[in-house]
Amino acid sequence: MLKGKKIVIGITGSIAAFKIPFLVRLLKKEGAEVQVLMTPAACDFVTPLTLSTLTERPVLTSFFKKEDGSWFSHVNLGLWADLLLIAPLSANTLAKMANGIADNLLLTTILSARCPVYFAPAMDMDMYGHPTTQENIRKLLSFGYRIIKPVEGELASGLSGPGRLEEPEQVFEIMKKALTPDTVFSGKKVLVTAGPTYEPIDPVRFIGNHSSGRMGTEIALALAHKGAAVELITGPSAIELEHPCINLTRINTAEEMYTHSTQLFPDCQLAIMTAAVADFAPLKPAEQKIKKENRPDAIHLQATKDILAALGKMKAKGQLLVGFALETEDEGANALKKLKSKNLDLIVLNSLNDEGAGFGGQSNKVSLLFKSGEKIDYPLKSKTAVAEDILAAIEEKLSI
Ligand code: CTP
Repeated sequence: MLKGKKIVIGITGSIAAFKIPFLVRLLKKEGAEVQVLMTPAACDFVTPLTLSTLTERPVLTSFFKKEDGSWFSHVNLGLWADLLLIAPLSANTLAKMANGIADNLLLTTILSARCPVYFAPAMDMDMYGHPTTQENIRKLLSFGYRIIKPVEGELASGLSGPGRLEEPEQVFEIMKKALTPDTVFSGKKVLVTAGPTYEPIDPVRFIGNHSSGRMGTEIALALAHKGAAVELITGPSAIELEHPCINLTRINTAEEMYTHSTQLFPDCQLAIMTAAVADFAPLKPAEQKIKKENRPDAIHLQATKDILAALGKMKAKGQLLVGFALETEDEGANALKKLKSKNLDLIVLNSLNDEGAGFGGQSNKVSLLFKSGEKIDYPLKSKTAVAEDILAAIEEKLSI
């Protein structure tokens, strides 16, 4: 569940540091990447070796590498993390955090972090209850940091009261909740097609189109950010994409896209078909490159399989199917016809008549047509924003 999530854990000088190796194991088991930072005092309570072994990364304890004098960029660490947890948090580091002191790598990383920051104080009950500590905690909360409150119980001092670090299993659950988006798309499997298809004339020539694959890629990314598991099938395109929640399959021809789409669709709750699939393919592609002097008078074409229509026929209860339509005339009426004949729940109409919309560019101007007959028109927007609009409309108007 946490595959690809990046967590920085800052450990400070408190006896409760012994619980962190257990927490790291739980996070790693779920696929998270964990980077541990330790204050010098923390190294007296648990060894960096234990944590570097469990995290499979060197533990960072100071600004500089002793061997060659090079330094670790706290800014990069702060930007890398999806979540920063300081646990256990001693009264000393807590006070420094509240006052913006930056005298070790952990404190500078906290100041540079743009991600959610969680802190878990652990100390003796009287230190915890002291007005200074409580005031410092209030200050951290006012920065938007979130607290994992210490629990009551027996403390290292022999006293009993609030001050114990929450158990690793509980901290793990809090981390999981914070890192897994809770949207209607979370945990859903979604098929997305993108890009053009290339239909071979001979081994070096093909029939294709100008689709860049960008609209489909933006939709795949938006879905992944909302917690979906995406199967993205793309035709030849320059787009490079790496996301732990997107499984990318590259194909060339309409026939290959058809094979993969029909195989994957039965397991998906939603399919969004943005690909500009070639409607015709050469009937008999030449096995060798056609020489200039052998110029054919004509290339005989055959219709490709209509993937969207095939999925429309396969569609079972509980599945949603979204198509795209690229029209140059009678746009609304033609798109509605496609919606009905292909058994779709929603069709996204993009018109080549609008400047800045359609193939190739960074922007698009779309209208959404629903089975119910409802139509929503959007202004020209970036393809990233269009992807968000489409998902918001699916969430609002269709029951996924
Ligand atoms: N599509 C498909 N398989 C094809 C052709 C199109 O899955 N062989 C899908 C596209 O991915 C898009 C939708 O059908 O979601 C509409 O594509 P479009 O080219 O606008 O329409 P066509 O159905 O091909 O009809 P026409 O070209 O005649 O307008």
